[in-house]
Amino acid sequence: MLDIFYNRRSTRKFSDQPIEDEKIKKILTAALLAPSSRGLRPCEFILVNDPVLLEKLSISKPHGATLLKHSPLAIIIAGDKTLSDVWVEDCSIASIFIQLEAEALGLGSCWVQINRRYYNDDITSNEYIHDLFNIPDRLEVLSIVGIGYKAAERPPLSDSDIVWEKVSRNKFGGVFD
Ligand SMILES: Cc1cc2nc3c(=O)[nH]c(=O)nc-3n(C[C@H](O)[C@H](O)[C@H](O)COP(=O)(O)O)c2cc1C
Repeated sequence: MLDIFYNRRSTRKFSDQPIEDEKIKKILTAALLAPSSRGLRPCEFILVNDPVLLEKLSISKPHGATLLKHSPLAIIIAGDKTLSDVWVEDCSIASIFIQLEAEALGLGSCWVQINRRYYNDDITSNEYIHDLFNIPDRLEVLSIVGIGYKAAERPPLSDSDIVWEKVSRNKFGGVFD
């Protein structure tokens, strides 16, 4: 199980190979199995594979979304703020479940942050995406995960990436060993 955490790296360049429908179904199954506060399940998911819409998503914010333009698939993850006050946490868990299942299936993925980001000086990224997809006001977009076959493998994380100093036991700042 730890292997998947070492091997998952953000993938921003994908090959043209389409993702099989069974794999897409498995990724969505993982997302829908994610835990949520009080089991309220506020997360909703919009699949996007239309190149015109992907290009529009890739300009949801000035930086950090361009990878979506050439992603074979993007999943918009949105939370119902009228259903849960912790939709951000719930949608974050669903987003990472999507990324980990993608990795398990031999696919690459990258999280694109939408919540608290801006399309331009006046319009939030969330508002921009609402207009594009006619999303109801009760939903807030947390993230978009771009998914596809990796154009190239990135080196996995290694033990030198693990900052054990972030961990203490019984008192803050102690050494964990
Ligand atoms: C909450 C969150 C927001 C992120 N937002 C973006 C983003 O908008 N665009 C992007 O290219 N990568 C984004 N990333 C990916 C991070 O940049 C990446 O996970 C980090 O640099 C570590 O690299 P790794 O995923 O390859 O281990 C985000 C990751 C997280 C967890």
